[in-house]
Amino acid sequence: MIRKLVSVMLLSGAWSLAATAADVAYTKDILPIFNERCVECHGSESPVLHDFAKDEKKYIKENAGPRMNSYADLIFYVGWPDTGALMRRLDDGKSANDGKPGNMYRQLGGDETERQRNLKVFKEWVGEGAWNLNRWKARGEVPAITKEQLDRLRLLP
Ligand code: HEC
Repeated sequence: MIRKLVSVMLLSGAWSLAATAADVAYTKDILPIFNERCVECHGSESPVLHDFAKDEKKYIKENAGPRMNSYADLIFYVGWPDTGALMRRLDDGKSANDGKPGNMYRQLGGDETERQRNLKVFKEWVGEGAWNLNRWKARGEVPAITKEQLDRLRLLP
């Protein structure tokens, strides 16, 4: 009997883990990673992208990137207007033509295991099949995003 109960619990545990992966959401999953790994340079002290762009050199010297410390601010770098920026910067190189990781990939963790674990959470949040490096308008080798690709975005709040 106990054996049976345990195996039922294990089974339902496995099921709820699978459910968690599909339900990755901003507040519960992304924000804790952001607060640990990104907020020091992309928090409320940082300029919005519009202001950042006016004096990029100065802000980079201060280690300040553009502000993205809320749901609304972060999806700006996923869907529009800075389409695909989050994916281009966080990718580990597997989605890139040249195989190079984005320059924020290393910020995802102190070691490769942590970086891969956090990248997986970001990918699940963006959506299965929605992780691509495309821009709103094609530039160089990077094609423009399609409506079908945008339809796959999940971005649960
Ligand atoms: C030590 C400071 C620092 C940390 C930590 C950091 N970033 Fe950045 N980030 C920057 C700076 C500075 C820039 C602007 C310069 C550049 O484009 O590389 C930037 C640029 C970006 C951009 C591109 C924005 C654009 O203009 O298109 C994205 C997206 C980004 N960071 C995401 C993240 C995420 C997500 C994390 C956490 C996993 C993170 N960054 C951690 C400093 C940081």
